[in-house]
Amino acid sequence: MNTVLLIGNGGREHAWAIALKNSGARLITWAPTLNPGIEDIAEITIQSDYEKDVDLLSEWIEDIDLAIIGPEAPLVKGMTDWLQSLGIMVFSPTQANARLEGSKSYLRNLLSAHNIEGNIEYTVCTSEDELRSALEKNLSVVIKPDGLTGGKGVRVHGDHFTTVEEAFDYGSSLIRSDGRVLLEEKLNGAEFSLQGLAYGDKVVFLPLVKDYKRAYDGDTGPNTGSMGAVSYPGHGLPYVTHGDLESAKSIVRDVLRALEKENGKYTGAIYGQFMLTKDGPRVVEFNARLGDPEAINTLALLETPLLEVIEILSKGTTPDVKFSETATCVVYLVPEGYPENPLEGRRVELPDEIYDSLRFASVRKEGEHLYTTRSRSLAVIGRGNTLKEAVDNAYNLIPDGISGLRFRTDIGRP
Ligand code: AMP
Ligand code: GLY
Repeated sequence: MNTVLLIGNGGREHAWAIALKNSGARLITWAPTLNPGIEDIAEITIQSDYEKDVDLLSEWIEDIDLAIIGPEAPLVKGMTDWLQSLGIMVFSPTQANARLEGSKSYLRNLLSAHNIEGNIEYTVCTSEDELRSALEKNLSVVIKPDGLTGGKGVRVHGDHFTTVEEAFDYGSSLIRSDGRVLLEEKLNGAEFSLQGLAYGDKVVFLPLVKDYKRAYDGDTGPNTGSMGAVSYPGHGLPYVTHGDLESAKSIVRDVLRALEKENGKYTGAIYGQFMLTKDGPRVVEFNARLGDPEAINTLALLETPLLEVIEILSKGTTPDVKFSETATCVVYLVPEGYPENPLEGRRVELPDEIYDSLRFASVRKEGEHLYTTRSRSLAVIGRGNTLKEAVDNAYNLIPDGISGLRFRTDIGRP
């Protein structure tokens, strides 16, 4: 198992690419726009939209031993099923299983139908009347579009709206565009991301990560794809007890078993976002992929070759996987104005010496220069024996007076 088709072009896929390359893979990259970091290490480049067009692969189809799909959009589109139909082994979930992420109401209904711990109160409203009466009964909710929004569609009571009218305006706009809107009980507590690599209910759990989704320092502003993330030495988080972690792992395993019953075996990355409440961890969301940037933190810690991990898992055995004990801090550099009014086309200049600590995301390469797009540009990763060391190392990588880009200054800081 050596030639790997890697679909996607974000920071997460750059992290996958590095881990695959380090485990001896020969990489084929496929993405609509190329990631300069992945392009540097891939042997073959397919620049195209994600179309189920066999001609795009024909030259290499016999060579491909394994395919991995990084982002949610091609998963939800069923690229896994299509690649499987071409006889390719895919370490990513099928379209049916990717509904775990592709429909937030599917997740809530799955948890409830299979009596899985960690679910919360929720209502799916399909009419304005239902929406208004639900909001009048309880305004302390979180409003979510049912489908994919790149992490940007969630609005929280108290942070993003305070009156029934504001909530109604947003909720009814979602009913108009999607036919439905999800209202969830608003939880309070600290969050953590638990990711795994799965084959059925055999899971290799990755070190825990704390994600920083809000746009600005102090966890203020709109939700974004994420502005950064940290992991601690020893793979836990100081506020997550052993018991909380075991509960979260058991929820992930239950979800994998429920999906297998409904849709067939789940394979590939899985991601549970949890909030710690006084009653234990509650499910905030599930993703059918690794997180971005959580993939950057955790794949950097992987010491067992990634291809070996996937190969053993795919035989139905849980491998013994080693991770480095160090802490990690990932800081995303984003275009100025992101996420509301990102300034596109600004030249990104970074010193060559920090190349190994960069994970490229959405930057456009023109000649020798890189330019911002409307999405997150690139991430830096710092490592250390303590969190503080990792955080200082990450921020020290960012040149003073860097122009065209902004970043949060409090990732991993008290
Ligand atoms: P999601 O895209 O579902 O992960 O939501 C993005 C962020 O919104 C989460 O990381 C939480 O910070 C917040 N959020 C989502 N659901 C809830 C909830 N039910 N209660 C409180 N905050 C939530
Ligand atoms: N960092 C959150 C996500 O990838 O969904």
